[in-house]
Amino acid sequence: MRLPPRGRDKPRRARSGPLSEPLVTSLTTAASDRIIYDLTGIEHQYDALLGELPGTHIRFALKACPVDEVLHTLAARGAGFDAASPAEITQALHAGAQPNHIHYGNTVKSDHDIAEAHRLGVRTFATDSVEDVTAVAAHAPGTRVFCRLATGGDGALWGLNRKFGCAPDDAVRVLATARAAGLTPAGLSVHVGSQQMTGEGWQQALDTLAGTLTALAGRGIVPDHVNLGGGLPALGYQDRQGNPLDPPLDKIFTVLREGMDRLRGLTSAPLAFVMEPGRHLVADHGAVRAHVSRLTRRRQPDGTEAHWLYLSCGKFNGLYEMDQLTHRMVFPGHRGSEEYVSAIVAGPTCDSDDAWGEGRYPVRVPRSVRSGDPVWILSAGAYATSYTTQGFNGIRPLPCVCVRGQEGRH
Ligand SMILES: Cc1ncc(COP(=O)(O)O)c(C=O)c1O
Repeated sequence: MRLPPRGRDKPRRARSGPLSEPLVTSLTTAASDRIIYDLTGIEHQYDALLGELPGTHIRFALKACPVDEVLHTLAARGAGFDAASPAEITQALHAGAQPNHIHYGNTVKSDHDIAEAHRLGVRTFATDSVEDVTAVAAHAPGTRVFCRLATGGDGALWGLNRKFGCAPDDAVRVLATARAAGLTPAGLSVHVGSQQMTGEGWQQALDTLAGTLTALAGRGIVPDHVNLGGGLPALGYQDRQGNPLDPPLDKIFTVLREGMDRLRGLTSAPLAFVMEPGRHLVADHGAVRAHVSRLTRRRQPDGTEAHWLYLSCGKFNGLYEMDQLTHRMVFPGHRGSEEYVSAIVAGPTCDSDDAWGEGRYPVRVPRSVRSGDPVWILSAGAYATSYTTQGFNGIRPLPCVCVRGQEGRH
């Protein structure tokens, strides 16, 4: 599959697109809008991650893609799940995961949520405050808790740095409280921010973990695991101006491997590692087949003329993350040699935030596109189905289709 030229004016460095054969086939034959997942690609991504970080327990953050077939595929491969609510726990169990391969990874939960998770068989809970850990002791007695440490979020597209996690000395207090309340102070966790683009983001988190493990040892608390959270990047995104985001994945894995070795050396008991990847496993293996609503040309408030490409898919039905990134697009049937215009891309709703790069950054679009023409939106597999409205402007969520490579098709 040859992809059309990218960028606005100047040619950009070629990068192999994340389009696998099953995705291309399914996108080509789709007669209407949908989101398509390549299950074989997701399996390979999972295997590749395990190859980079051998022995790590992978718990897929299912909020990134709560699609039953995807969860079933990962569970069958041996993945566990990071669940953020009783409903997600139920979905993970349905996918075939054992309760002891699911943890409740949300630090925000009510008494009822905790009791329900316990009833469903979950025995490991994230926490970050004395109030929460006390509630876990009351409603899920005798279970295991891991304390989330705050991180700076620098280097990530979404920092996740204020709402969750506590300072190292608070973590010591929280886990000491857990122990006194009959819980097992089982671990520490971090989340370096979603789509973390730097090795330094991980290094800082690992330094914080090292200091906290040492402080815990001083209180006689020896966690059995460290949860390194999510944050691993997808490879196929573009920034808001349309430039490829090129995360230094090899460096990130090197930092992680070295950091794990260092942390192991700090504890007197064996230390296991958990990771909760979300987007890294699914983003590049999902694509949206949308269609053109219309290509228009209008005078803007500043007096300039602008082309706008309105699509059937936008922020509220699959492309929620367009505030921080853009997706590579393919206009099938259009050749790179034909005339292109620079157009601002926007979704179909009445909301003016429903536009790529806040409606400021143009994208190369074939001048001849017509209403109804198909458009493929790549690397759209993460947080697409979960961050979708249920009927804003009467627009329904995209139907979801899962396909497979050589081993067969769903
Ligand atoms: C606790 C937790 N773990 C894992 C993830 C997955 O993050 P990512 O998609 O960046 O890997 C998230 C995302 O918000 C999260 O909140």
